[in-house]
Amino acid sequence: MDVDLFLQQVPALFDGDPMANGPVDRRYVEMAAQVAGYTSANELAVVNLAAKLLPADECYLEVGTYKGRSLCAAVMDVPDRTFYASENYLEFGMLGQEARDELHTNLATHAAGADVRLIEGDCFRTLAQPGALRSPVGVYFYDGKHTLLAHYLALGLVEPLLADQALVLVDDATWPVVQKAHEAYLSRHSGWSVVARWDAKQTADPLWANGLHALRYDRPADRKLGLSTDTALMRRLQVGAVGPAESLAWHTLHRAPWLVALAKKIYPKRSSRINT
Ligand SMILES: C[S@@+](CC[C@H](N)C(=O)[O-])C[C@H]1O[C@@H](n2cnc3c(N)ncnc32)[C@H](O)[C@@H]1O
Repeated sequence: MDVDLFLQQVPALFDGDPMANGPVDRRYVEMAAQVAGYTSANELAVVNLAAKLLPADECYLEVGTYKGRSLCAAVMDVPDRTFYASENYLEFGMLGQEARDELHTNLATHAAGADVRLIEGDCFRTLAQPGALRSPVGVYFYDGKHTLLAHYLALGLVEPLLADQALVLVDDATWPVVQKAHEAYLSRHSGWSVVARWDAKQTADPLWANGLHALRYDRPADRKLGLSTDTALMRRLQVGAVGPAESLAWHTLHRAPWLVALAKKIYPKRSSRINT
Protein backbone atom coordinates (compact mmCIF):
# COMPACT_ATOMS: atom_id res chain seq x y z
CA MET A 1 0.00 0.00 0.00
CA ASP A 2 1.36 3.38 -0.97
CA VAL A 3 0.78 5.39 2.20
CA ASP A 4 2.30 8.58 0.75
CA LEU A 5 -0.16 8.50 -2.15
CA PHE A 6 -3.02 8.09 0.31
CA LEU A 7 -1.84 11.08 2.35
CA GLN A 8 -1.51 13.18 -0.82
CA GLN A 9 -5.09 12.40 -1.85
CA VAL A 10 -6.82 12.96 1.50
CA PRO A 11 -7.18 16.79 1.18
CA ALA A 12 -9.22 16.44 -2.04
CA LEU A 13 -11.87 14.47 -0.10
CA PHE A 14 -12.96 17.57 1.79
CA ASP A 15 -14.54 20.92 1.07
CA GLY A 16 -11.55 22.83 2.45
CA ASP A 17 -10.24 22.26 5.97
CA PRO A 18 -11.22 18.71 7.07
CA MET A 19 -11.33 19.91 10.66
CA ALA A 20 -14.15 22.29 9.74
CA ASN A 21 -15.88 20.74 6.73
CA GLY A 22 -17.59 17.59 5.55
CA PRO A 23 -16.76 15.45 2.53
CA VAL A 24 -17.16 16.71 -1.04
CA ASP A 25 -18.88 13.45 -2.00
CA ARG A 26 -22.21 13.56 -0.18
CA ARG A 27 -22.71 9.78 -0.53
CA TYR A 28 -20.76 9.38 2.72
CA VAL A 29 -23.26 11.60 4.52
CA GLU A 30 -26.10 9.52 3.06
CA MET A 31 -24.41 6.29 4.13
CA ALA A 32 -24.06 7.59 7.68
CA ALA A 33 -27.77 8.45 7.64
CA GLN A 34 -28.87 5.10 6.22
CA VAL A 35 -26.75 2.61 8.19
CA ALA A 36 -26.76 2.70 11.99
CA GLY A 37 -23.28 3.07 13.43
CA TYR A 38 -20.60 5.10 15.07
CA THR A 39 -18.37 6.40 12.28
CA SER A 40 -18.73 9.91 10.82
CA ALA A 41 -19.10 10.84 7.14
CA ASN A 42 -15.54 12.22 7.13
CA GLU A 43 -14.20 8.93 8.48
CA LEU A 44 -16.16 7.06 5.82
CA ALA A 45 -14.53 9.19 3.12
CA VAL A 46 -11.08 8.34 4.50
CA VAL A 47 -11.62 4.56 4.74
CA ASN A 48 -13.06 4.47 1.23
CA LEU A 49 -10.11 6.40 -0.23
CA ALA A 50 -7.75 3.94 1.48
CA ALA A 51 -9.62 0.96 0.01
CA LYS A 52 -9.55 2.51 -3.48
CA LEU A 53 -5.76 2.71 -3.32
CA LEU A 54 -5.22 -0.94 -2.28
CA PRO A 55 -2.84 -2.82 -4.57
CA ALA A 56 -4.41 -5.85 -6.30
CA ASP A 57 -2.50 -8.40 -4.21
CA GLU A 58 -3.40 -6.90 -0.82
CA CYS A 59 -6.61 -6.93 1.20
CA TYR A 60 -8.57 -4.66 3.51
CA LEU A 61 -9.21 -5.70 7.11
CA GLU A 62 -11.73 -4.14 9.47
CA VAL A 63 -12.16 -5.06 13.12
CA GLY A 64 -15.43 -3.89 14.68
CA THR A 65 -18.07 -3.96 11.97
CA TYR A 66 -21.19 -3.53 14.10
CA LYS A 67 -24.06 -2.99 11.62
CA GLY A 68 -21.74 -2.38 8.71
CA ARG A 69 -21.58 1.41 8.32
CA SER A 70 -17.81 1.73 7.89
CA LEU A 71 -17.61 -1.45 5.81
CA CYS A 72 -20.41 -0.38 3.43
CA ALA A 73 -18.57 2.92 2.86
CA ALA A 74 -15.15 1.27 2.47
CA VAL A 75 -16.31 -0.95 -0.39
CA MET A 76 -17.95 1.87 -2.40
CA ASP A 77 -16.63 1.76 -6.01
CA VAL A 78 -14.15 -0.99 -5.06
CA PRO A 79 -15.58 -4.18 -6.62
CA ASP A 80 -12.25 -5.89 -7.21
CA ARG A 81 -10.59 -6.08 -3.79
CA THR A 82 -11.16 -8.40 -0.82
CA PHE A 83 -12.58 -6.99 2.42
CA TYR A 84 -12.30 -9.02 5.64
CA ALA A 85 -14.53 -7.88 8.50
CA SER A 86 -14.22 -9.11 12.08
CA GLU A 87 -17.16 -8.88 14.48
CA ASN A 88 -18.10 -10.82 17.61
CA TYR A 89 -21.66 -9.45 17.98
CA LEU A 90 -21.16 -8.72 21.62
CA GLU A 91 -21.21 -5.01 22.39
CA PHE A 92 -23.92 -2.34 22.33
CA GLY A 93 -26.78 -4.80 22.77
CA MET A 94 -25.67 -6.61 19.59
CA LEU A 95 -26.04 -10.09 21.01
CA GLY A 96 -27.15 -12.81 18.69
CA GLN A 97 -28.96 -13.39 15.49
CA GLU A 98 -30.77 -10.06 15.31
CA ALA A 99 -27.51 -8.13 15.04
CA ARG A 100 -26.14 -10.53 12.46
CA ASP A 101 -29.34 -10.19 10.39
CA GLU A 102 -29.13 -6.40 10.43
CA LEU A 103 -25.52 -6.47 9.27
CA HIS A 104 -26.36 -8.89 6.46
CA THR A 105 -29.30 -6.74 5.34
CA ASN A 106 -27.10 -3.65 5.24
CA LEU A 107 -24.41 -5.46 3.30
CA ALA A 108 -26.99 -6.76 0.80
CA THR A 109 -28.34 -3.24 0.34
CA HIS A 110 -25.12 -1.24 0.25
CA ALA A 111 -22.28 -3.66 -0.50
CA ALA A 112 -23.78 -6.05 -3.04
CA GLY A 113 -21.11 -7.05 -5.53
CA ALA A 114 -18.24 -6.38 -3.14
CA ASP A 115 -16.00 -9.24 -2.02
CA VAL A 116 -16.77 -9.11 1.72
CA ARG A 117 -15.72 -11.97 4.00
CA LEU A 118 -17.06 -11.88 7.53
CA ILE A 119 -14.88 -13.32 10.27
CA GLU A 120 -17.25 -14.04 13.13
CA GLY A 121 -15.92 -14.27 16.68
CA ASP A 122 -13.39 -12.64 18.94
CA CYS A 123 -10.72 -10.98 16.77
CA PHE A 124 -8.07 -11.78 19.39
CA ARG A 125 -8.72 -15.45 18.62
CA THR A 126 -9.74 -15.47 14.96
CA LEU A 127 -6.95 -13.26 13.60
CA ALA A 128 -4.30 -15.35 15.35
CA GLN A 129 -5.40 -18.52 13.57
CA PRO A 130 -3.03 -19.65 10.81
CA GLY A 131 -4.39 -18.82 7.35
CA ALA A 132 -7.02 -16.41 8.73
CA LEU A 133 -6.51 -14.15 5.71
CA ARG A 134 -5.44 -15.12 2.21
CA SER A 135 -3.36 -12.03 1.34
CA PRO A 136 -1.34 -9.37 3.18
CA VAL A 137 -3.33 -6.53 4.70
CA GLY A 138 -2.64 -3.24 2.93
CA VAL A 139 -5.30 -1.28 4.81
CA TYR A 140 -6.42 -2.07 8.35
CA PHE A 141 -9.24 -0.20 10.07
CA TYR A 142 -9.54 -0.93 13.79
CA ASP A 143 -12.83 0.03 15.45
CA GLY A 144 -13.21 -2.84 17.91
CA LYS A 145 -12.80 -2.99 21.67
CA HIS A 146 -11.36 0.15 23.22
CA THR A 147 -9.27 -0.84 26.22
CA LEU A 148 -5.53 -0.32 26.68
CA LEU A 149 -4.87 -4.03 26.25
CA ALA A 150 -7.15 -4.30 23.22
CA HIS A 151 -5.51 -1.38 21.42
CA TYR A 152 -2.02 -2.70 22.14
CA LEU A 153 -3.09 -6.07 20.75
CA ALA A 154 -4.90 -4.39 17.86
CA LEU A 155 -1.46 -3.42 16.53
CA GLY A 156 0.51 -6.42 17.78
CA LEU A 157 -1.80 -9.13 16.47
CA VAL A 158 -2.10 -7.61 13.04
CA GLU A 159 1.57 -6.74 12.52
CA PRO A 160 2.48 -10.16 11.06
CA LEU A 161 -0.57 -9.96 8.78
CA LEU A 162 0.31 -6.57 7.30
CA ALA A 163 1.86 -5.97 3.90
CA ASP A 164 5.46 -4.78 3.89
CA GLN A 165 4.06 -1.25 3.77
CA ALA A 166 0.59 -0.77 5.21
CA LEU A 167 -1.86 1.88 6.32
CA VAL A 168 -3.47 1.43 9.73
CA LEU A 169 -6.49 3.58 10.59
CA VAL A 170 -7.61 3.59 14.21
CA ASP A 171 -10.96 4.95 15.30
CA ASP A 172 -11.69 6.69 18.62
CA ALA A 173 -8.03 7.69 18.62
CA THR A 174 -8.58 11.01 20.39
CA TRP A 175 -9.33 8.99 23.52
CA PRO A 176 -6.35 8.96 25.90
CA VAL A 177 -6.55 5.17 26.21
CA VAL A 178 -5.88 4.74 22.49
CA GLN A 179 -2.97 7.16 22.43
CA LYS A 180 -1.46 5.53 25.50
CA ALA A 181 -1.64 2.12 23.82
CA HIS A 182 -0.08 3.48 20.63
CA GLU A 183 2.75 5.17 22.54
CA ALA A 184 3.44 1.93 24.42
CA TYR A 185 3.36 -0.22 21.29
CA LEU A 186 5.39 2.14 19.09
CA SER A 187 8.07 2.52 21.78
CA ARG A 188 8.66 -1.25 21.73
CA HIS A 189 8.23 -2.05 18.04
CA SER A 190 10.04 -0.57 15.07
CA GLY A 191 8.61 0.24 11.65
CA TRP A 192 5.61 2.19 12.97
CA SER A 193 4.80 5.89 12.84
CA VAL A 194 1.70 8.06 13.27
CA VAL A 195 1.27 9.92 9.97
CA ALA A 196 -2.05 11.78 10.34
CA ARG A 197 -4.40 12.77 13.13
CA TRP A 198 -7.98 13.94 12.66
CA ASP A 199 -8.88 14.62 16.25
CA ALA A 200 -12.35 15.09 17.69
CA LYS A 201 -13.07 18.40 19.40
CA GLN A 202 -15.74 16.78 21.55
CA THR A 203 -17.20 13.35 22.25
CA ALA A 204 -19.09 12.09 19.17
CA ASP A 205 -17.85 15.11 17.20
CA PRO A 206 -20.08 15.50 14.10
CA LEU A 207 -17.00 15.67 11.85
CA TRP A 208 -14.63 13.09 13.32
CA ALA A 209 -16.66 11.05 15.86
CA ASN A 210 -14.06 10.30 18.57
CA GLY A 211 -11.09 10.96 16.32
CA LEU A 212 -9.24 8.99 13.66
CA HIS A 213 -5.47 8.47 13.50
CA ALA A 214 -3.50 7.05 10.59
CA LEU A 215 -0.41 4.95 11.26
CA ARG A 216 2.09 3.73 8.73
CA TYR A 217 3.89 0.43 9.00
CA ASP A 218 7.08 -0.39 7.09
CA ARG A 219 8.27 -3.87 7.96
CA PRO A 220 11.89 -3.76 9.12
CA ALA A 221 14.21 -6.11 7.25
CA ASP A 222 15.06 -7.98 10.47
CA ARG A 223 11.41 -8.45 11.62
CA LYS A 224 10.95 -12.12 12.50
CA LEU A 225 7.83 -14.00 11.42
CA GLY A 226 4.92 -14.39 13.82
CA LEU A 227 3.77 -12.65 16.97
CA SER A 228 6.26 -10.76 19.12
CA THR A 229 6.76 -12.17 22.62
CA ASP A 230 4.94 -9.30 24.36
CA THR A 231 1.97 -9.59 21.98
CA ALA A 232 1.76 -13.36 22.50
CA LEU A 233 1.76 -12.94 26.29
CA MET A 234 -0.83 -10.17 26.24
CA ARG A 235 -3.00 -12.16 23.88
CA ARG A 236 -3.01 -15.01 26.39
CA LEU A 237 -4.17 -12.58 29.06
CA GLN A 238 -6.93 -11.17 26.80
CA VAL A 239 -8.15 -14.52 25.49
CA GLY A 240 -7.76 -16.48 28.74
CA ALA A 241 -9.02 -14.01 31.33
CA VAL A 242 -10.09 -10.54 30.22
CA GLY A 243 -12.15 -11.59 27.18
CA PRO A 244 -14.26 -14.21 29.01
CA ALA A 245 -14.94 -11.74 31.86
CA GLU A 246 -16.02 -9.05 29.37
CA SER A 247 -18.20 -11.53 27.54
CA LEU A 248 -19.90 -12.53 30.78
CA ALA A 249 -20.47 -8.85 31.61
CA TRP A 250 -22.09 -8.10 28.22
CA HIS A 251 -24.32 -11.19 28.44
CA THR A 252 -25.40 -10.19 31.94
CA LEU A 253 -26.16 -6.61 30.88
CA HIS A 254 -28.10 -7.93 27.91
CA ARG A 255 -30.31 -10.05 30.17
CA ALA A 256 -30.68 -7.39 32.86
CA PRO A 257 -30.76 -3.99 31.10
CA TRP A 258 -31.54 -2.23 34.38
CA LEU A 259 -27.91 -2.92 35.33
CA VAL A 260 -26.66 -0.64 32.51
CA ALA A 261 -27.23 2.57 34.50
CA LEU A 262 -25.35 1.10 37.44
CA ALA A 263 -22.50 -0.12 35.21
CA LYS A 264 -22.15 3.36 33.70
CA LYS A 265 -21.68 4.80 37.19
CA ILE A 266 -19.09 2.22 38.17
CA TYR A 267 -17.13 2.00 34.92
CA PRO A 268 -14.31 4.61 34.82
CA LYS A 269 -14.76 6.96 31.85
CA ARG A 270 -11.55 9.02 32.13
CA SER A 271 -9.69 6.92 29.57
CA SER A 272 -12.36 7.45 26.91
CA ARG A 273 -13.18 11.10 27.54
CA ILE A 274 -12.29 13.90 25.17
CA ASN A 275 -11.09 16.99 27.00
CA THR A 276 -12.58 20.10 25.38
C1 LIG B 1 -17.88 1.00 17.69
S1 LIG B 1 -18.49 -0.49 17.07
C2 LIG B 1 -18.02 -0.46 15.38
C3 LIG B 1 -18.70 0.59 14.59
C4 LIG B 1 -18.63 0.43 13.09
N1 LIG B 1 -17.28 0.34 12.59
C5 LIG B 1 -19.37 1.56 12.44
O1 LIG B 1 -18.90 2.11 11.43
O2 LIG B 1 -20.47 1.87 12.89
C6 LIG B 1 -17.40 -1.68 17.77
C7 LIG B 1 -17.73 -3.10 17.38
O3 LIG B 1 -16.62 -3.91 17.71
C8 LIG B 1 -17.11 -5.20 18.06
N2 LIG B 1 -16.09 -5.87 18.85
C9 LIG B 1 -15.67 -5.58 20.12
N3 LIG B 1 -14.74 -6.45 20.54
C10 LIG B 1 -14.53 -7.31 19.51
C11 LIG B 1 -13.69 -8.44 19.33
N4 LIG B 1 -12.89 -8.86 20.34
N5 LIG B 1 -13.73 -9.09 18.15
C12 LIG B 1 -14.54 -8.68 17.14
N6 LIG B 1 -15.38 -7.61 17.25
C13 LIG B 1 -15.37 -6.94 18.42
C14 LIG B 1 -18.37 -4.87 18.87
O4 LIG B 1 -19.26 -5.96 18.94
C15 LIG B 1 -18.93 -3.68 18.10
O5 LIG B 1 -19.91 -4.09 17.18
